[in-house]
Amino acid sequence: MRALITLCLVACSVLTSGQQYRPIVSSSSVQYTGNPGLCNLNRDYIREYRTATYHFTLSSFKPVAVRSNFNFVYSPISIWIMVAAIAEGADPLTQQKLFQFLHLPPQDPCLRYAFYQLATSRALPTNEVNIKNNRILLINEGTTLNPTWYDIVVKNSLLDVVAAPIKYNSVATANEIKRIMSARLPTLNLSGNSVLLDTIDYNGLWTTAFADAVVERAPFYSHRGEVLGSVDMMRVRRRARLGYIKSINGKVLELPVGSDERYRMIFGVIVGNADIRPIVAAVSSATVFEVIDSLRESAVPIDVAIPRMVITSEVDVRVILEDLGVTDIFTDPSATRYISDPPAFPSSFLQRSTLVLNNTGLYAPPEEPFSYNAPTGLDYALGRDFIANHPFVFSLFDAETYTCIMAAAYTTPTYT
Ligand SMILES: *[C@@H]1O[C@H](CO)[C@@H](O)[C@H](O)[C@H]1NC(C)=O
Ligand SMILES: *[C@@H]1O[C@H](CO)[C@@H](O)[C@H](O)[C@H]1NC(C)=O
Repeated sequence: MRALITLCLVACSVLTSGQQYRPIVSSSSVQYTGNPGLCNLNRDYIREYRTATYHFTLSSFKPVAVRSNFNFVYSPISIWIMVAAIAEGADPLTQQKLFQFLHLPPQDPCLRYAFYQLATSRALPTNEVNIKNNRILLINEGTTLNPTWYDIVVKNSLLDVVAAPIKYNSVATANEIKRIMSARLPTLNLSGNSVLLDTIDYNGLWTTAFADAVVERAPFYSHRGEVLGSVDMMRVRRRARLGYIKSINGKVLELPVGSDERYRMIFGVIVGNADIRPIVAAVSSATVFEVIDSLRESAVPIDVAIPRMVITSEVDVRVILEDLGVTDIFTDPSATRYISDPPAFPSSFLQRSTLVLNNTGLYAPPEEPFSYNAPTGLDYALGRDFIANHPFVFSLFDAETYTCIMAAAYTTPTYT
């Protein structure tokens, strides 16, 4: 993102020197405290936070899946955070609608900030997990930010604001945006006063490696059983956490990432039917809780096979939000008038996500004794393996809050 700063040029001085902000609303209207301890949060607000973010994850999952023809990766939590940033500076009516949409408590800024603290502290890189997430409001140079709003988004790490000559040189701005986002962005629209830009890149090391020796080219099937192409299948025989999701006849596998198992990747398929479209239609926030509660470690090793892949998607988030009824911020300049003067009035909201699944892990794959006939101790419907050689969904969660950091579906192999 350093390159984005070059877009800033002269306009940056406006954004970085507080004196030049014209206060639009009185700064006493929002009581800021970044410390959840001061908020009387003596209840389990992590569960409330999860319900709020899952609600958005699941409602966005369907339109993202359908618009990408069920082959995609995206970061729902990053979009949720950016919409929250806009909501914090929206006019009262839009703000009320957006807080409701995000399941954020309108009367309780302290609790909102506690949710933001959780949401923005998930995608933090470590030696073993390479994860980068950048959220930017790129605004036309010369725009004056509302300091109250700017203070909230900066203190809560919701997004960075960067100025660019959107009106003065939209062609150069568009090229620079594509370059620094490493994206094609066919729907980039610079007709407004700003654009919302989001990137996330993930490449983590499994806690336990897939066996190097058994990465092999294998066919990948459609839900009707036709060969669609081939994949490099990573295989390992190990004890693994599996769950049976009765409500959708689904089967899930959880694999830990990193030495402290700070992240978990959950893979899901439908039992006896490789069509994942019903999962997308049937999931609810209750399903996610059901998934988490269902996971149990197998008593004996089972066969696990997942394709090696690099998957990248560019999601036109504006279109997804419009599908979900969020339109005012893109069509009515006055909806964003407490963000800046003139109003931020974004005309695009784009996210580029890239996820790498490789066989490398921190520890060698276990040498498990062959014990094929011993009971797994799991639900009978799960069988004795998890072989992702037909369409599947998967998701990256953090182990502490089970925030869905990235969600994806894989239906089309890269090699044909
Ligand atoms: C760009 O956004 C503006 C403002 O919402 C809209 O009026 C216009 O139709 C959009 N242009 C394109 C090409 O989509
Ligand atoms: C995956 O790992 C192999 C070695 O195990 C390496 O050659 C390859 O470049 C890696 N691919 C990606 C996309 O990281």
